[in-house]
Amino acid sequence: MAQPQLMEKIVGLCKRRGFIFQSSEIYGGLNGAWDYGPLGADLKKNIKDFWWKSMTQYRDDIVGMDGSILMNRNVWKASGHEATFSDPMVDCKTCKGRFRADQLTSTPCPQKPSKMVNTCGGELTEPRSFNLMFKTYVGPVEDDHNITYLRPETAQAIFVQFKNILEVSRKKLPFGIAQMGKAFRNEINPRNFIFRSREFEQMEVEFFVKPETGKEWLEQWLKDRLAWYELIGIPRSKIHVLDVPQEDRAFYSGGTYDLEYEFPFGIQELEGIAYRTDYDLTQHQNASGKPLEYFDEETKTKYLPHVVEPSAGVDRTCLAVLCEAYAEETIKDEETGKEETRIVMRFVPKLAPIKVGIFPLLKNKPELVEKAKALAATLRKTMTVFYDESGAIGRRYRRMDEVGTPFGVTIDFETLEGIREGENAGLKETVTLRHRDSMKQERIAIADLPAYLLKQIEG
Ligand code: GAP
Repeated sequence: MAQPQLMEKIVGLCKRRGFIFQSSEIYGGLNGAWDYGPLGADLKKNIKDFWWKSMTQYRDDIVGMDGSILMNRNVWKASGHEATFSDPMVDCKTCKGRFRADQLTSTPCPQKPSKMVNTCGGELTEPRSFNLMFKTYVGPVEDDHNITYLRPETAQAIFVQFKNILEVSRKKLPFGIAQMGKAFRNEINPRNFIFRSREFEQMEVEFFVKPETGKEWLEQWLKDRLAWYELIGIPRSKIHVLDVPQEDRAFYSGGTYDLEYEFPFGIQELEGIAYRTDYDLTQHQNASGKPLEYFDEETKTKYLPHVVEPSAGVDRTCLAVLCEAYAEETIKDEETGKEETRIVMRFVPKLAPIKVGIFPLLKNKPELVEKAKALAATLRKTMTVFYDESGAIGRRYRRMDEVGTPFGVTIDFETLEGIREGENAGLKETVTLRHRDSMKQERIAIADLPAYLLKQIEG
């Protein structure tokens, strides 16, 4: 399938099935802002939950935090964001559009969309710097003393809380602090759906290490993060590792890898893994006047740790997961025998917004409906369930395929043949279990179903 067409289909599906809507849609939208609907909110939450567990639960060298979005303005002065967190911008004197000067060759002209801004004939101004931080005021008085910014990254809260967290967690180097949450950037040209927006979420770790081990940890994090993406269904073959050349990195950088994914609109950054040396802690120590050094009990010396920072975008990960999951297949309808196109989202089970669809074979058979509802209620305690009794069973399966539900369970007449009373009641009642990807169906005892599903979901 042509890639622009694929992107259109994914965006269409996201709206049709309630993954993602334009923000403020009934008022004409707001450029660069998106709302996650019922399924999108669950998909995004599952990605974040898995990242959080991978960082703070499955390993014992990272602790979590949840910092505020508004911080003291001095944080942004010390970090360098106030002075330098900007993109070069040009204005078009012809169409009055504003564009990123470094993206002119890939930005379509608003008046002649078949041409790019660098070839449409419009007269452009000289580039000037545009700071991407959203400015706001703390308190009722809108003057210079009360200025602060919506955070453009989550990382700085970690640096400024480094000493507190070191003390309370009693960790020794190497150790990390993980945080996820909203970040805001007044992007000049938000684009490609949720890929580049003005409000987005990040999942960041600042991993503090002994200075001489920084480069080793950079390599280790590259391996760890590539392995993580495979666990959420993004194969290694679709991720390109860019070893960012020195001339494109900040002066303090000890190395950066960009993990880039093959999105339908091109190979673009998903995550950056940056060896930031001791730059950030040095800046905050100098600007705040508060010591941020680490006392090394082995060597009895004090020093500022070095930092390796894997920084991923939640929304970009969501988009990569959606792109990777989308598939179209020609199949024969199980009831009519006619050929049709099946749209299936092949999410790995742990990310799927709905884990199992529960269907009574016929809605006018109270015994089937009752049993199906009881099974749905049982499963709901441990997983997300969608109960559906309307339409032909093939249609109901197809609706679940399109939202990526990995399992379908049908309560049919054979279910009712199971033992209903006495000591073994329920044990041998069976249901049809249908697998989304293979469409294969098998019979499974109701008693075995919850444990079986949980095992598949947890992988
Ligand atoms: N603390 C380092 C940092 O913020 P970054 O490369 O600017 O580094 C990290 O951002 C990640 O945040 C990116 O790899 C991307 O996934 C995500 N991100 C950045 N800007 C974004 C935007 N405008 N919209 C969506 N995601 C964005």
